[in-house]
Amino acid sequence: MTSIELPHSFVWGAATAAYQIEGGAAEGGRTPSIWDTFSHTPGNVANGDTGDVAADHYHRWEHDLDLAAELKLDAYRFSISWSRVMPGGRGELNPEGVAFYRALLQGIRSRGMLPVVTLYHWDLPQELQDAGGWPERETAYAFADYARAMAREFGDLVHTWTTLNEPWCTAFLGYGSGVHAPGITDPAAALATAHHLNVAHGLAARAIREELGDDARVSITLNIHVVDPADEERAADHEAAEKVALVGNKIFLGPLLDGTYPPALLSQTRHLTDWSFIQPGDVSIARVRLDVLGVNYYSTSRVRKGDGGGHGVGHGGGVGSPWPGCEDVEFLEPEGELTAMGWNIEPRGLYDLLVALDTAYEGLPLAVTENGAAFDDVVGEDGRIHDERRVAYLQAHLAEVSAAVADGADVRGYFVWSLLDNFEWAYGYDKRFGIIHVDYETQQRRLKDSARFYGDLVASHRESS
Ligand code: NOJ
Repeated sequence: MTSIELPHSFVWGAATAAYQIEGGAAEGGRTPSIWDTFSHTPGNVANGDTGDVAADHYHRWEHDLDLAAELKLDAYRFSISWSRVMPGGRGELNPEGVAFYRALLQGIRSRGMLPVVTLYHWDLPQELQDAGGWPERETAYAFADYARAMAREFGDLVHTWTTLNEPWCTAFLGYGSGVHAPGITDPAAALATAHHLNVAHGLAARAIREELGDDARVSITLNIHVVDPADEERAADHEAAEKVALVGNKIFLGPLLDGTYPPALLSQTRHLTDWSFIQPGDVSIARVRLDVLGVNYYSTSRVRKGDGGGHGVGHGGGVGSPWPGCEDVEFLEPEGELTAMGWNIEPRGLYDLLVALDTAYEGLPLAVTENGAAFDDVVGEDGRIHDERRVAYLQAHLAEVSAAVADGADVRGYFVWSLLDNFEWAYGYDKRFGIIHVDYETQQRRLKDSARFYGDLVASHRESS
């Protein structure tokens, strides 16, 4: 077994997101988000599942926090539902929504955990989408106002503010391929969304620091795509991987950390948009000090240069694609052992990612804000869930985090996705990522073997360091 050795200060956590666990969709003054609308539209989500009830965390949060505390977690990462605290996305706060998150934050603190709060995990208030959504610059301003209000309300309790979770998914799955809410398939809108998310991040970070002082901790979580060329020897495959990296990664890393959009990204997508949504000064707005960069990692992809005819597996560019400007890129069918999502299991990709980021952005602390796997779990006759494949997955990935740290990468923490089984977006409830099992009939929670493994690992690190 590869060893997992991490420093005493390393933060061990678990993550969730509001729409995926809360339920209580029409309770406490919450108004609909784009995910309510999308999931209630037939054909969008497997089995017609919705987040109306989800894991009923809205009513069971105390018990859920007890379970997280039982695992001795240092930190709990969750997201605030914008339309619960600010119905319609603008204006007055909803006292009931604010009270819910204040109690939750206090509950996290009183159990000795650090709250890591994501402000946007994909559930845009429907009214803002009705006004145009993220392709409209106004949405970035609305987000900054919301962030400011949250800082004012919860600044005394939040440890780290994460502005956005996986903006790539918001832009390219929400407005590109349309497999996520709001279900739009317009490459130009997706690119405008990406830019407005960068601006939204910068404005929100500034608003938070204006409210709370310059030392307020701000982060963003990106799903940086680890993409390898199918054939290491083939220059065209390297070019294909580079194209995917531009629209998958650099579209955010560029403005946020390098201070510019790479010219190659603009030329790669010029046939889709003229990028006139960029206003002077936007890149400096987006480039704010990050106290930590969150990365979510699940698997690695392989690509090759194809003939542009849309053959091959996966995406390529064009309408309905999440990869604008990648018309001649083909994604290979994943090989080897796959998770229930059909994703390959490549722990080494996490090492490569962490080391590459550490090298590229010296002095920028990193955290793995999501890592985990869906498998078809069964409750055994002993009433337990022996999810040994998830245990192996977590162990292998944590070993790579440990190796990256040993090789000098500044990785400060790791958050399992997810604390609980939950609503896996377009896949609904069939895909279970939790280390805690949820019986959706009874809402009973059961620790899976992976939760016990993780809890033991945290405890052993606490003792030994
Ligand atoms: C990333 C997203 O942040 C999360 O919401 C999702 O459930 C996991 N990936 C698994 O797909």
